[in-house]
Amino acid sequence: MSGINYAEKIPNNVDLSGDRTLQRALEHWQPNYLKWWQDMGPEASQTLDVYLRTAISVQADGWANFGYVKMPDYRWGIFLAPQTGDRKMHFGENLGKDVWQEAPGEHRANLRRIIVTQGDTEPASVEQQRHLGHTAPSLYDLRNLFQVNVEEGRHLWAMVYLLHRYFGRDGREEADALLQRNSGSQDSPRILGAFNEKTPDWLAFYMFTYFTDRDGKFQLSALAESGFDPLARTTKFMLTEEAHHMFVGESGISRIVQRTADVMKELQTEDPAVLRAAGVIDLPTIQRYLNFHYSVTIDLFGADQSSNAAIFYSSGLKGRYEEGKRTDDHQLKDQTYRVLEVVDGKFRETEVPMLNALNEVLRDDFIHDSVAGVGRWNKVLDKRGVSFRLKVPHKAFNRKVGTLAGIKVSPEGDVLTEEQWKAHENEWLPTAEDRAFVASLMGRVVEPGKFANWISAPVIGINRQPVNFEYVRFN
Ligand SMILES: [Fe+2]
Ligand SMILES: [Fe+2]
Repeated sequence: MSGINYAEKIPNNVDLSGDRTLQRALEHWQPNYLKWWQDMGPEASQTLDVYLRTAISVQADGWANFGYVKMPDYRWGIFLAPQTGDRKMHFGENLGKDVWQEAPGEHRANLRRIIVTQGDTEPASVEQQRHLGHTAPSLYDLRNLFQVNVEEGRHLWAMVYLLHRYFGRDGREEADALLQRNSGSQDSPRILGAFNEKTPDWLAFYMFTYFTDRDGKFQLSALAESGFDPLARTTKFMLTEEAHHMFVGESGISRIVQRTADVMKELQTEDPAVLRAAGVIDLPTIQRYLNFHYSVTIDLFGADQSSNAAIFYSSGLKGRYEEGKRTDDHQLKDQTYRVLEVVDGKFRETEVPMLNALNEVLRDDFIHDSVAGVGRWNKVLDKRGVSFRLKVPHKAFNRKVGTLAGIKVSPEGDVLTEEQWKAHENEWLPTAEDRAFVASLMGRVVEPGKFANWISAPVIGINRQPVNFEYVRFN
């Protein structure tokens, strides 16, 4: 079951050839996908040989397969974690009942919506990152970008498989629409806000993979608990890929911070202008990027009070992060959760029914998780005797979704007037000038083992290859 059949046109471990209709439908979608990859995927990358990993099985060691691949030939396919015999619902009103192997009629619309919303983010991020190959700071980083991109492509495949297999004609139409919406498009944008933002430079890319791919981790973890077993098994396998994306982000920022701190020490300065003149990214600019990506990402969790979130949970469609490890009753009917609101210019916590606050619960789990990595970046500064500390802004900072949307709040959590906000906004969010400066540093470095001036080399290479390995070959 866990072996992947690569002999077929669409590699899979779901016995695709046993369902001719489904196989034909997906084979029909496949050229449209490849056309999308050509048009909207990584620019000028079609002929490059890239040292990529490809899954050969869905077991833990199934990722050990590395080799040079031209990306249009990447074996995108359909891989589900193995079915475990008698999985039961472990939360919601159906607690203890058998999980569903088909989408139940009464939950079909909600399940489809969940899958489409998740599916939409996957190609969106590829679109957002399509220009970055032109300005990669090294072959190592270029390879990591492409690895992330092909895997997001595969995540799209995963969601499309579910739509085709379980949602009939509506599902096929939704699968087509996933290739028709485009990130940042005026007429048909991607569904969620953060996925219509630009990822114009590599600092933004690492912030995105650190924060926004982590949103992916939390959404997928919640779906991996689903009572709709095919969704649970699909997302479980997707999570194995997400870990690498977040590693790319965390280590990328860490290496930028390290380089800046080294130059700060060398030049004995904290002055952003001097550091910029030395060709590194000053820490306040990194902080502004962090503020931006953090705030747009926590918006992705949705409204802090949501009846949909309650329905998704109670009906067993979407669990909490690590549902299985929690020790409450997994129904949450009488429980409450504290959410933040602003009353008369002051923050106040109110108790609301927990079922309605599950978006907030997931957001708080995300916040807890993302703060840890920021602490590791600060260790890099500390080790070099730099006193500046990066920090995540207050939860209410720069929010566009939920109760806190539109309230002006400083990164420290002071509620502000419109005028106060305007007077300081430039200190807190990346300015056009910041972006222009970061853009001015971006230039492709292609000599093996060489790195752009604004980022340190990684400690180790990919798959135990040396750092100066030729991770991408230009033909
Ligand atoms: Fe993904
Ligand atoms: Fe990802």
